[in-house]
Amino acid sequence: MTRIMPRHVIGLSAAALLLFGGQAMAEEPISYEQASLLASTCFACHGTDGRKEGNFAPIAGRPYESLNAQLIAFRNDQVPGTTVMNRLAAGYSEAELEAIALYLSGITDRRRD
Ligand code: HEC
Repeated sequence: MTRIMPRHVIGLSAAALLLFGGQAMAEEPISYEQASLLASTCFACHGTDGRKEGNFAPIAGRPYESLNAQLIAFRNDQVPGTTVMNRLAAGYSEAELEAIALYLSGITDRRRD
């Protein structure tokens, strides 16, 4: 009678996640529709289509490179004084943040809602 120790189960599932997560990403690039869906989670705080101007500049229409770098920095908890974005960005994979940055950078109409 062999008992599986919880530690082994956790180790195994983490490895499986890494493996299958990596495979899924390699096989299925994030579609425009998926990117739009991912980015829509940002609009509750940043306004419809990320155009709201509040305490910070709108997140829509920024150059992809700098927006993506900013999101990755949030994800890695490298932005001092961050209250929300570090925890939020940690919930996305780097590929998902790239897709979000790409989608948002494509919104060029800076109209305020
Ligand atoms: C719960 C509210 C909330 C949500 C949801 C949210 N943000 Fe933010 N965002 C903030 C706050 C608050 C800040 C200011 C930094 C901080 O304290 O975290 C910020 C700052 C930012 C900044 C930096 C702005 C600047 O001018 O420095 C970017 C870029 C950004 N968010 C992108 C996003 C993206 C992309 C998403 C969706 C994946 C998102 N945010 C979702 C609240 C939110």
